[in-house]
Amino acid sequence: MKGIILAGGSGTRLKPLTGVVSKQILPVYNKPMIYYPLSVLMLAGIREILVISSPSHLEMFRDLLGDGSRLGLSIDYAEQKEPNGIGEAFVIGADHIGADQVALILGDNVFHGHGFSELLRTTAAGLDGCALFGYPVKDPWRYGVAELDAGRRLTALTEKPSEPRSNIAVTGLYMYDNDVVGMAQDLVPSERGELEITDINRAYLEQGRAQLAELGRGFVWLDMGTHDSLLEAGQYVQILEKRQGVRIGCVEEIAYRMGYIGAEECHRLGIEQAGTEYGAYLVNLAEGTAASHPAAAATTALPRMA
Ligand code: DAU
Repeated sequence: MKGIILAGGSGTRLKPLTGVVSKQILPVYNKPMIYYPLSVLMLAGIREILVISSPSHLEMFRDLLGDGSRLGLSIDYAEQKEPNGIGEAFVIGADHIGADQVALILGDNVFHGHGFSELLRTTAAGLDGCALFGYPVKDPWRYGVAELDAGRRLTALTEKPSEPRSNIAVTGLYMYDNDVVGMAQDLVPSERGELEITDINRAYLEQGRAQLAELGRGFVWLDMGTHDSLLEAGQYVQILEKRQGVRIGCVEEIAYRMGYIGAEECHRLGIEQAGTEYGAYLVNLAEGTAASHPAAAATTALPRMA
């Protein structure tokens, strides 16, 4: 399965923060925003990734992530000339996708929760058509909304309904079989002039090939479209990282735990960021030692993902 991170858009709602910088480069506590969606694709086992952004911002992502080899990935870049809609990602990314399946994630989405990696991998492995991820919210009118029947099967999808018929938002993570490329090419712009991802999802639903995985209580999904939600996401990451001593969206750690890079490479990435807690965390990880009180010997081995 190939991966796409859509990191364009005009960032109007976050001005003046986005006056000269792409929204998806902005800091979410201690990392650039794009690290969080990138980490989701990596956890799903995806290593060939296309980053799509506007012509004026693409270079920033290239400077930040390079060709991905440092993380054991292959990262390519493509321009979206105008924010013509999320569905355009599959038209722009057609060559990247080739004959493969694809996962698309929006560059401003944070996911975090127990069992998420497992859910990603089982959903990708069992994909038949399209897989969406639903999350209960108190303001569903701001999102694509999913309706479910009594058996929790997906029955309808509506983009930003003024009178939502459920509180289940469709999050910005989507998995598709290869038919998505042709469907995206046939899309007609909506009334607001965009190639709508919800139209693609609805087409799969009409064919009986759309499933919704529900992310329940105890799971966190945040999108960062406003100053408040950007700050809240940063605070969430800060609280968890400080309390638990683990990192959320640490792409170097995920590369190491997934076996994309070895301990030596992880250590080197830590040393490159020496003098920061982030760098020290990677060095500790590579050495198999847990962060500890400076006076105590660090002996606890950290588990590695299979
Ligand atoms: O976050 C989940 C929601 O994302 C879904 O529930 C909706 O169904 C989906 O339409 C989308 O809604 P948004 O209102 O959040 O979409 P927005 O236009 O804000 O775009 C989301 C991100 O994608 C944003 O960071 C900018 C980027 N983007 C958007 C468009 C339309 C692009 O890179 N290119 C685009 O053409």
